[in-house]
Amino acid sequence: LAKYRVVFLRHGESQWNKENRFTGWHDVTLSQKGVEEAKAAGQLLKKEGFQFHQVYTSVLTRAIQTYNYAAEEMGCHYLPVTKSWRLNERHYGALQGLNKSETAQKHGEDQVKIWRRSYDIPPPPLDPTDARNPANDRRYADVPKDALPLTECLKDTVVRVIPFWHDHIAKDILAGKNVLVVAHGNSLRSIVKYLDNVSEKDILELNIPTSVPLVYEFDSNLKSLGSYYLGDQEEIRKKMEAVAKQGAKK
Ligand code: 3PG
Repeated sequence: LAKYRVVFLRHGESQWNKENRFTGWHDVTLSQKGVEEAKAAGQLLKKEGFQFHQVYTSVLTRAIQTYNYAAEEMGCHYLPVTKSWRLNERHYGALQGLNKSETAQKHGEDQVKIWRRSYDIPPPPLDPTDARNPANDRRYADVPKDALPLTECLKDTVVRVIPFWHDHIAKDILAGKNVLVVAHGNSLRSIVKYLDNVSEKDILELNIPTSVPLVYEFDSNLKSLGSYYLGDQEEIRKKMEAVAKQGAKK
């Protein structure tokens, strides 16, 4: 029998999701559709009776905005929110800003899939002198410089996300708190890989849809008993397929 649960939420559609550009640590806002998606997630969580004690987000605007719009619907703006760079999207290196389809035209769909979904092959890194080096961004001032990435594969993302899971999120859950985690496609893929022990091969096919609440249930040792998405399952399947197709040539 399930003893604990947690809800994960990928942010709603961002401006760069809409433009189909690699985003990573680039800070963009939600698109109008993303705002509507975030509100819909809040309404759904409310309708299903979810009530939270603690919220976690990344330090990227699209995740924070998603929580704020959802909170408005749930009437829970008062909740404590802990923001951490460790929940950020995977850093997309020198691909950040490029259009995903155009990149597939140029380098091939297979290469783009490797960059997007492989476990241990990172995209080409940002040049350290690039103005976009996270070391130049004051929001990361407290992060040790050697922990700040110039690119990341999923394996690198796992290395910085999972300690945060153990040190903060898992502790709260075990203390009986209902926790909502609002994060990103690949930071959530890292957590799912860890919780379900997904193989490096199977993780290639895992796509997380925008702004659909993902509920995990656990036993008393926080061992995963399974997970499910809230909402219309056919719609959710289409949304996941759309994410996978972002890397297709036009
Ligand atoms: C991005 O950073 O571009 C997206 O948020 C996730 O992208 P992906 O689905 O291409 O990994």
